[in-house]
Amino acid sequence: MLPTFWLCARRRCNWPIVRNGWPARWSAPQRIFWPVRKKSSIGSPAPSNIGDGDTGEHVSRVAQISQLIAEGIGLPQERCRMIYLAAPLHDIGKIGIADAILSKPGKLTAEEFARMQEHVTIGARILERGTSELIRTAELIAQSHHERWDGTGYPDRLSGADIPVEARIVAIADVFDALCSERPYKAAWTVEAAYAEIVRCGGSHFDPACVAAFRANWPEISALVGGDGLPQAAGF
Ligand SMILES: [Fe+2]
Repeated sequence: MLPTFWLCARRRCNWPIVRNGWPARWSAPQRIFWPVRKKSSIGSPAPSNIGDGDTGEHVSRVAQISQLIAEGIGLPQERCRMIYLAAPLHDIGKIGIADAILSKPGKLTAEEFARMQEHVTIGARILERGTSELIRTAELIAQSHHERWDGTGYPDRLSGADIPVEARIVAIADVFDALCSERPYKAAWTVEAAYAEIVRCGGSHFDPACVAAFRANWPEISALVGGDGLPQAAGF
C-alpha cells in the first residue's frame, strides 16, 4: 500500500484536514509540496486535474511494477523499496503543465509537445532541495524517466548506463501501464499488446536488462493490470 501522501500529491481530495490555512498534521514531504498545492489553487492546474483519469491507480501500479523490475535486476532490497516509494512522483512536474495540454483528446502540436516535455525539468526543480534519499531518488526519476536507452529521449539525450537505473526502471513501468490504460488521446491496449511493445523496445527505448526483469516477473506484473500472466498464449 502506498503512503497516502504520494497519492495526495496528485489527488486533492486526499490532502490532510486543513485548519487555519495549514494541514493539521503533515510529514516532511507534505511540507515540501504544500506551497505547490497552494499555488495551484490560485491559477495553475490543480493536482486533481493532472493528466489521467485514474492517476492514483496509475502511480500505484507504476510503483509496484518498478519494484518488481528493480528486484529482478538484483538491486538491494532497500534500493528496491526506495524506488517503490519514489516512483509515484515521476510526473509531479505535470503540475506546471496546462490542463488543456494534459487533457487534450487529440495529437499534441509540436509546440504543445515541447511544453509537455518540460514536465521533467519542472519535476526535478520541485524536488531538487530535498536532502533525504527518498527525495533524491524521486528527483533522478522525475528528471530522467523519458530518456531512452539509445539516446533519443529527453531532456538530456542520455543513453545506456548514463541514465540513472532508477529512471530506466520507471520508464518501463510507466510506459507499460500507460499503454494498458485509456487516455484522452487513445484507447487502452490489450495487456498482451503492451507486453509485446515493451519487449520490442528492449535495447532501443528501454534497458534490455530491465526488460528481461520485466519478462521474468510477467505473471505478477500482468496480474496488476488484469492480465492472465500468459503472454505466450498470445504468441509472444
Ligand atoms: Fe512523464
